Amino acid sequence: MTDQYCVIGNPVAHSKSPQIHAAFAAQTGQQLDYGRRMAPLDGFADVVRDLVAKGYKGANVTVPFKLEAAAIATRLEERALAAGAVNTLSFVDGEIVGDNTDGPGLVADITRNAGVALTGKRILLLGAGGAARGVMLPFLQQGPSAIVVANRTRKTADTLVADFQDQVTQVTAVNFEDIRGSFDIVVNATSASLAQEMPPVPASAFTHDTLALDMMYGDAPTPFMLFAAKQGAATRDGFGMLVEQAAEAFTIWRGVRPDTRELLTSLRT
Ligand code: ATR
Repeated sequence: MTDQYCVIGNPVAHSKSPQIHAAFAAQTGQQLDYGRRMAPLDGFADVVRDLVAKGYKGANVTVPFKLEAAAIATRLEERALAAGAVNTLSFVDGEIVGDNTDGPGLVADITRNAGVALTGKRILLLGAGGAARGVMLPFLQQGPSAIVVANRTRKTADTLVADFQDQVTQVTAVNFEDIRGSFDIVVNATSASLAQEMPPVPASAFTHDTLALDMMYGDAPTPFMLFAAKQGAATRDGFGMLVEQAAEAFTIWRGVRPDTRELLTSLRT
């Protein structure tokens, strides 16, 4: 029987994950089916139980179930534990193993696809919700010199920063109006782009050498990307991160790492 996987979300119809995993499977010669499962808002656990009963090998989890996925896992990998959220479930030997590939996907996109090293760099992270939390450990593992976390609600940033104090990297929380100096990398991990808004980051945060990355993606650049580009920064949306987090999940499940380069160009067009 062909191994079965899916992405669980609500909504889920827009998800590009089935296309991405089908392309990885074709490229690596792996036999698998990857579909979509819409879960009712109060029915995530039932869907997971149903998948396990049907012999599925794993699932990706998207909005709004990443926290519930961490709760339902019988075992959590370190990066899922640090993120407090799960986007990749593996059903193995009666266990539900939770992992989080979002942060590693972002790091892979910045370092491999954009060709920007994080070691020794100054990073400004905008937002302190689930998306921001998920990238903290993968960022710290790259040894940046500083991570400044700016959030509208200061208390959330303080809590996040307290959870990720580090020996090598200076990790601090600020209000948007207290952002000082410029940064090598600015990551928008707020959900402001969904409302066509941008967090109030000052122009002085960007230079011509800054990489500005929005975790969101769409047909057009986000307001954050347009603002950063106006200051001379190089910009990137979250599409590369999406493909890389999928590649990381595929590697966990199949033990084979797909090459993301051709997909990154073909899927964009
Ligand atoms: P996600 O899982 O996408 O991170 P979340 O946990 O709800 O979603 O977090 C959303 C983040 O976007 C938060 O940091 C939020 O700021 P608050 O903590 O102050 O709510 C931030 N955010 C959302 N809309 C924003 C806006 N218009 N401007 C600035 N920050 C915004």
